[in-house]
Amino acid sequence: MIIAAIMAGGIGARMGNLATPKQYLTIGGKPILVHTAEKFWVHPAVEHVVVLTPPSWIGYTNDILAEHLPQGHGVQVIAGGESRSGTLRCALHYVRENFGGDDHILITHDAVRPFVTHRIISDNIAAAEAFGACDTVIPATDTIVRSEDGKLITEIPNRNSMFQGQTPQSFRCAQLRTLVESLTAQEEAALTDACKICALRGVPVALVQGETHNIKITYPYDLKVANALLGIESAGGGIPK
Ligand code: CTP
Repeated sequence: MIIAAIMAGGIGARMGNLATPKQYLTIGGKPILVHTAEKFWVHPAVEHVVVLTPPSWIGYTNDILAEHLPQGHGVQVIAGGESRSGTLRCALHYVRENFGGDDHILITHDAVRPFVTHRIISDNIAAAEAFGACDTVIPATDTIVRSEDGKLITEIPNRNSMFQGQTPQSFRCAQLRTLVESLTAQEEAALTDACKICALRGVPVALVQGETHNIKITYPYDLKVANALLGIESAGGGIPK
């Protein structure tokens, strides 16, 4: 089974002092989270969509999904974890409880990346089926400068081998579960990224080509960019969906 887990368990601290986590802010008259969930819900290969939110936002999330998606939409809302990797564990637990076994593909995606495309989702499914794990990336456009102390340069890696990570990240559930369960408490605290867990354990992760407009809404500036992108999209401005 192909299952999409929309990771919406964060509070969006970098967005500023908000009464609501950033995934509930609206762009184009619709909450960001709904835009994102819709992209997976309409994809014909995705058989189930689960949204993981802070526990106190479950009711509200159900309300906005009911308002914007057709009746009987079937998108499930459950509690995420305290950290992003905690939310990933909740998704894995949900899959086992509800669908049994581990022979599933889990597509994990940031709720605050509403511009994910049909093509990116399709490519994630194909890559996870073929390789067991995949990450969505775009080539780094800026030179990446590494500094251990934030004051002096430690290294400037060759830009040709540098990519910027986006989401989705998709996995065969059995492999991901084994990896996640193998983490020590110390590793778990340090590893916020599921693909990094794979890399740490020497498990291959395929690259899926992302899109520059598959942005993550992190700061107030990103919200302005998102509104501009939506404007271009609705004017038929050639942004792939
Ligand atoms: N996320 C999650 N569970 C958590 C923390 C984060 O599902 N416990 C989700 C966020 O809701 C978001 C995605 O992971 O959709 C990407 O994380 P980020 O942009 O860092 O979101 P926040 O943690 O909400 O932001 P901040 O770090 O500014 O608080």
